[in-house]
Amino acid sequence: MARAVLAYSGGLDTSVAIHWLLERGYEVVAVAVDVGQREDFEEVVRRGTAAGAAEVRVVDAVDRFADGFLARAIKANGLYEGKYPMVSALARPLIADEVVRVAREVGAEVVAHGCTGKGNDQVRFEVAFRVLAPELRVLAPIRDDAIPREKAVALAAEWGIPLAAVASSYSIDENLWGRTIECGPLEDPWVAPPEDAFVRTAPPEARPSEPTEARVAFERGVPVALDGVALPLAELIRRIEELAGRYGFGRVDMIENRRVGIKSRELYEVPGALALITAHRALEDLTLEREVAHFKPGVEQRWAELVYDGLWFSPLRLALDAFVDATQEHVTGEVRLAFSPGSCTVVGRRSERSLYDLSLATYGSGDAFDQSDARGFVRLWGLPLSVWSAKQGAPGS
Ligand code: ARG
Repeated sequence: MARAVLAYSGGLDTSVAIHWLLERGYEVVAVAVDVGQREDFEEVVRRGTAAGAAEVRVVDAVDRFADGFLARAIKANGLYEGKYPMVSALARPLIADEVVRVAREVGAEVVAHGCTGKGNDQVRFEVAFRVLAPELRVLAPIRDDAIPREKAVALAAEWGIPLAAVASSYSIDENLWGRTIECGPLEDPWVAPPEDAFVRTAPPEARPSEPTEARVAFERGVPVALDGVALPLAELIRRIEELAGRYGFGRVDMIENRRVGIKSRELYEVPGALALITAHRALEDLTLEREVAHFKPGVEQRWAELVYDGLWFSPLRLALDAFVDATQEHVTGEVRLAFSPGSCTVVGRRSERSLYDLSLATYGSGDAFDQSDARGFVRLWGLPLSVWSAKQGAPGS
């Protein structure tokens, strides 16, 4: 019997996909990759088995996700269209890689995913599958059979696929980096985000009124300690998310441009991701040389586009990461974050590698900046414009 390995979430679409593959004569190995989603994996295994999978494998990839993907996202201040920390985009290449590993192990001919044809995740999975395992056939039952959601719900009931989550009108993806929320009432961009869309950020009335602070330490651009306590990155992310979420910080409401050409309205709940990127940027302000600091945001934007667009496994992403790594050599130090209801702000930063030089910056005593140097500098800086206005006339204002 030919084997198919499916990227399995335990949700409605991927459960339907198991059955679809079964009906076409495949033996299905469902792979549920733990990337830090708050999921009961025993329940996921139970659902997958009930849906007909010969085997449901749970792969713990939380640390791999944090150290191999999120650390890179932090160093690159990865925000798609300046706002979205790429919760789903960062997880897909990792999930694809784990699925391919299992496919090789069990001698499968097919890898499959349960994405629809309207989203980015199909792009991310399939590009990754084709790069990592060109010998495997890729099947996308939900997309290629265009099963509408209502029909999928009906099929799930008919096949006895037990699904607690079917009731929700939102479409949700989540992992260690945050939550994504789409569909239902959100499809009208004029409708304000309903409070019931959020679970990782406290509602306004439940936020502590007393502000608090946290200290995040970085080594070469990667967070390594919280309030002086060294932590593995995954654990540090969980803790800062919990703290920021308690203050209701980290909600994003955006209209975004998908790779497939659709504008969509999305909510993101990303308290930890935004707190860490905020802190990381503050430490870069202190430690990156001026030209590097001005050049890097362009690279960051391109990096985010590549990752969002499903090109994680690409030579350009690798090359940009080599650049980003080179910039992070001295991004070591500590940042103070202050939390108050709905906000997280940087209130202090320090580093042994700081380029901030008090003897240059000060207006007090101990000034080492020779102000007489400035006179000639300013004259030469403005020289082309002085010549221009003298010869060709000063512009009207
Ligand atoms: N729009 C976001 C992205 O493309 C979120 C996707 C969420 N995925 C999902 N299967 N619900 O990254």
